[in-house]
Amino acid sequence: MIPTLEWTADGVKLLDQRRLPARTEYLLCRDYHAVALGIRDMVVRGAPAIGVTAAMGVALGVKQSRAAELESLQRELDEICATLHATRPTAVNLAWAIQRMRACFQSASQGPFDRGRIAARLEQEALAIYAEDIAINQAIGRHGAGLMPDQGRVLTHCNAGALATAGYGTALGVIRAAVAQGKQLEIFADETRPYLQGARLTVWELLQDGIPARLITDNMAGHFLHHGGIRAVVVGADRIAANGDVANKIGTYSVAVLARENQVPFYVAAPVSTLDLSLASGEQIPIEERAPEEVTHFQGVPVAPTGVPAANPAFDVTPSRYVSAIITEHGVARAPYETALRELASKSQHTVRAG
Ligand code: MRU
Repeated sequence: MIPTLEWTADGVKLLDQRRLPARTEYLLCRDYHAVALGIRDMVVRGAPAIGVTAAMGVALGVKQSRAAELESLQRELDEICATLHATRPTAVNLAWAIQRMRACFQSASQGPFDRGRIAARLEQEALAIYAEDIAINQAIGRHGAGLMPDQGRVLTHCNAGALATAGYGTALGVIRAAVAQGKQLEIFADETRPYLQGARLTVWELLQDGIPARLITDNMAGHFLHHGGIRAVVVGADRIAANGDVANKIGTYSVAVLARENQVPFYVAAPVSTLDLSLASGEQIPIEERAPEEVTHFQGVPVAPTGVPAANPAFDVTPSRYVSAIITEHGVARAPYETALRELASKSQHTVRAG
């Protein structure tokens, strides 16, 4: 797989996912404002990927600061973090990564003021978050591969792959690991209206890896869960509440209910940084509302009468009762989720949580 994002001497390089699959182009973000725009405008997307990108944005902002003493550098850091945090509200990995960078800043700023040393420590921390994300996804894959059938069809929604992370993927990481073990899977990918992450991104990266993939429209999922021999569903997540409720791409909830109706297991694969144990339930998860034009238009072409009102929530919440298991890098959680998730979270070194 080609890299989703990269830290370079000139800034943060993002694979422009808006152009895929037609074009493989990178956008170089030369300052933290450009990084924030890259996240907001979905040049980069997917919960872990935007967390890693935000961490690099913090490192870049501090690297470019000319502050002469700690107080003004601290004020600049607050501004950088606020700008990056305001880009997208649902994926908690963004807030998680920013908090981790803030904690790094606090420890690096002990002792005599040395802006260069602080900037270097933040750069190291962002690179560590990047490298850890790939290792975490591989661990998710190892824990989840055994839950996949030995052969047959597996359905996924949106893109929770290498493109949504620093590499390898969460839901697609589980699939990659299962295929590496010799399991013979065919992946059914929902196209994922309105943004088409399934059509544009998921099947693109699966085909690159030679994993058999079949594209369906979202409204075909029920049909194939009922009659199409789908043996399991695996999706990613943007935020998971303490009770196991899962926010993920709009349409995930419908798939989960249809999976339950047809006795198909519904798995969620996500790193511990996607857990928000400060929220009792999914009711409290903020849901991003995006531009109505994404619904009234298809790839820029109008498909509805001019001026018709449209709703465009980017995510929905699947109640935990529909979730067969949550696969993390530290193991697999099953109901009752509150206890299981707290235990898995306690195994993580970085337990900063969004408040
Ligand atoms: O709006 P997006 O494309 O950022 O939404 C992405 C998803 O919903 C993914 O399923 C989720 O972030 C998990 S990615 C490993």
